[in-house]
Amino acid sequence: MNAIKVGLLGIGTVGSGTFHVLQRNQAEIRGRAGRGIEVSMVCRRDVAAARAVVGDAAVVTADPYAIINNPEIDIVVETIGGCGLARELVLAAIAQGKHVVTANKALLAVHGTEIFEAARAKGVMVAFEAAVAGGIPIIKALREGLTANRIEWIAGIINGTTNFILSEMKAKGLDFDVVLKEAQRLGYAEADPTFDIEGVDAAHKLTLMSAIAFGVPVQFDKAYVEGITQLQAADIRYAEQLGYRIKLLGHTRRRENGIELRVHPTLVPANRLIANVEGAMNAVLVQGDAVGTTLYYGKGAGAEPTASAVVADLVDITRLATADPDHRVPHLAFQPDAISNTPILPM
Ligand code: NDP
Ligand code: HSE
Repeated sequence: MNAIKVGLLGIGTVGSGTFHVLQRNQAEIRGRAGRGIEVSMVCRRDVAAARAVVGDAAVVTADPYAIINNPEIDIVVETIGGCGLARELVLAAIAQGKHVVTANKALLAVHGTEIFEAARAKGVMVAFEAAVAGGIPIIKALREGLTANRIEWIAGIINGTTNFILSEMKAKGLDFDVVLKEAQRLGYAEADPTFDIEGVDAAHKLTLMSAIAFGVPVQFDKAYVEGITQLQAADIRYAEQLGYRIKLLGHTRRRENGIELRVHPTLVPANRLIANVEGAMNAVLVQGDAVGTTLYYGKGAGAEPTASAVVADLVDITRLATADPDHRVPHLAFQPDAISNTPILPM
């Protein structure tokens, strides 16, 4: 069978990682997906930089619509970021009947309802494992591995940049600004790092996990969000002296009258596992009624850890798109009729 054809919208940190992982592991990926997965077009404004990544292996364009309107492209991967152009392109790709993989949590946390509805109406899949906790397969865990459970709560470190900053400030006594620059250099931080340090990025991810776990609509605007910009080196030192670590935690919980959704710096006893998650690592705890507490740990940002999740989605879509349509499980898009009216509680 012919390879499934992929177009990459954006070939920066995550897009390049995706290209490299697909190239390097192509034999394994072909075996697992049942057919090859080939990046045939890539897009960025700086075409020379894109060419430097892909060489002659793919067509390079500065026009995203050259990918979206290409009938040979089956799956569009969106790694441009932001909510403006990315929303337009994702909706246009869906309208063209293409499946979409995105790493863009901001886009889905704000426009998810519109995008998932468009995908459902068109019968295509939108997959977003990379949008939450980078390389940790937490979306799969919530949707598949824990599907028997009534989820009670989710809590975790879901922003690598801020965890890296807090860890380096604690271990090396470095200033906030110095460590932030290093996080940007390493490709962890968002294009606008305000989203990281103000807790917005973590709230985007938490909103998506909460929607899956509790069957509520994506409602980022209802989250309580507080970042780490008010923290000083002395706060971190005093917390240590008292036997605590300061972590930026995202927390969503089922209450009697609604769902709690909050992100803020939290004092965690230093002997807890989650207090010892250092650097750009992420860790997510999920409490289910049947399974009890489970913990997911791994790299939450960076080119190849994130690409690992993007490629996993590409393999899933390839398997499903290749299967007999009568036996497809459309589990990669939200099921709007499964969404409840449970309110998000004001904080
Ligand atoms: P980068 O800034 O590294 O890459 C963005 C890419 O999009 C660049 O290739 C850029 O190239 C291209 N681009 C931007 N605007 C346009 C445009 N108008 N037309 C065509 N191409 C464009 O971002 P990342 O790879 O870090 O992040 C991408 C997405 O992945 C974001 O949504 C981010 O939140 C998410 N993400 C990132 C992670 C990470 O660790 N970095 C982890 C998990 C998710 P050019 O400027 O030349 O056009
Ligand atoms: N800026 C994000 C972080 C990238 O630092 O976690 C991964 O989503």
